[in-house]
Amino acid sequence: MIEFRDVEKSYGDNVVLHNLNFSVAKGDRVTLIGPSGSGKTTILRLVMTLEEATGGYIFVDGEPLTHEERGGKRVARSKKDQKRIRQRIGMVFQQFNLFPNMSVLENIIEAPVHVLGQSKAEATAKAMELLEKVGLADKANQHPTSLSGGQQQRVAIARSLALDPEILLLDEVTSALDPEIVGEVLAILRNIAETTDITMLIVTHEMQFARDVSNRVLMFDGGSIVEEAPPSVMFSDPKHQRTKDFLHAVLGNDEGTIGTH
Ligand SMILES: Nc1ncnc2c1ncn2[C@@H]1O[C@H](COP(=O)(O)OP(=O)(O)OP(=O)(O)O)[C@@H](O)[C@H]1O
Ligand SMILES: [Mg+2]
Repeated sequence: MIEFRDVEKSYGDNVVLHNLNFSVAKGDRVTLIGPSGSGKTTILRLVMTLEEATGGYIFVDGEPLTHEERGGKRVARSKKDQKRIRQRIGMVFQQFNLFPNMSVLENIIEAPVHVLGQSKAEATAKAMELLEKVGLADKANQHPTSLSGGQQQRVAIARSLALDPEILLLDEVTSALDPEIVGEVLAILRNIAETTDITMLIVTHEMQFARDVSNRVLMFDGGSIVEEAPPSVMFSDPKHQRTKDFLHAVLGNDEGTIGTH
């Protein structure tokens, strides 16, 4: 569903991603872990076309996303093609990025109406279904500013689902939340993982969550993949010293592992 082929990203002289190759199959739930600055957010932003790679190719469902190879040359795709592919992808950010001047409902129906051309009635019916799913049907007419952080993030999740994405990108969606409400957001994401076949690319520091929902974990350092394994292996028996050190640091226990529960 997503393929990175020899992808390079640099900002000036700073090469952030080096010749990166990996692919994510349809329905996969892949978690990206690694230290700050290792390139995790950059990878999601490239898939969302918020950034452009400086080398290599990214494919979505077999189709080149921003650049393609033509006559041996790397050529940019048209904005129209990029937009069409991007419509298959949703992203939820650490800072919920809701429109503060719109109600919860208006936030959710905005893109379905203006991007997909759905009727207001159709978009509203779908939005109410999604609000039900994230437990916020009673907040439809409130403004985001009157909601808690956890509630705002649940609205942001509903908003991304309103476009029926085939791919969902989640960038540290619980990092801005108070610890006691992290659980309510993770519960919703678990439910989405269990009840849909959306392909997910997840950046998180919640290792237990990563262990529960993902089927593969990629450990990054310095813009390259250090290690790749299913979560049961990555979190209990990592092979590389860099991964061991990282997990010790984030899990803060003596073993650097999470047990099954
Ligand atoms: N717009 C930008 N301009 C210049 N450098 C950037 C830009 N965005 C990211 N970088 C650099 O790219 C590298 C990777 O950043 P990225 O945000 O992808 O890391 P990350 O793994 O998501 O880190 P964190 O865990 O702190 O979120 C960093 O060295 C960062 O300074
Ligand atoms: Mg990041």
